[in-house]
Amino acid sequence: MKLAIAGKGGSGKTSISGTMARSLAHAGHKVLAIDGDSNPNLALTLGIPMEQINDVPVLPADLIRRFPADDALTESLEEICRTHALTGPDGVTLLVMAHPKHAGTG
Ligand SMILES: Nc1ncnc2c1ncn2[C@@H]1O[C@H](COP(=O)(O)OP(=O)(O)O)[C@@H](O)[C@H]1O
Ligand SMILES: [Mg+2]
Repeated sequence: MKLAIAGKGGSGKTSISGTMARSLAHAGHKVLAIDGDSNPNLALTLGIPMEQINDVPVLPADLIRRFPADDALTESLEEICRTHALTGPDGVTLLVMAHPKHAGTG
């Protein structure tokens, strides 16, 4: 199952995403959460200290190779998670698309 949460700022996207991710992990599902916000704070709702985001390298810009018919990752998802993911206390794996210079909460 893949879920994408998008919408107006301040409408609760991050809160509901974190809650659903933790809830699904508690129910025994393997969960990969991807924070695509340019001011990311999904880590907080997953129980991961924001400081830890700086412990992993920024995702490389050339991670996706564009083809006319399809797009493809230049590395396997397992390898990307091994080098770039964080894991929360409930077992949710987190990938953050952009690293903030300073963290916000909105
Ligand atoms: N169900 C809710 N009831 C009340 N406040 C909420 C609820 N969901 C989120 N909030 C609060 O609203 C604010 C914005 O939520 P957030 O999840 O950060 O929104 P978004 O990611 O869409 O910008 C936060 O202060 C959050 O604590
Ligand atoms: Mg948000």
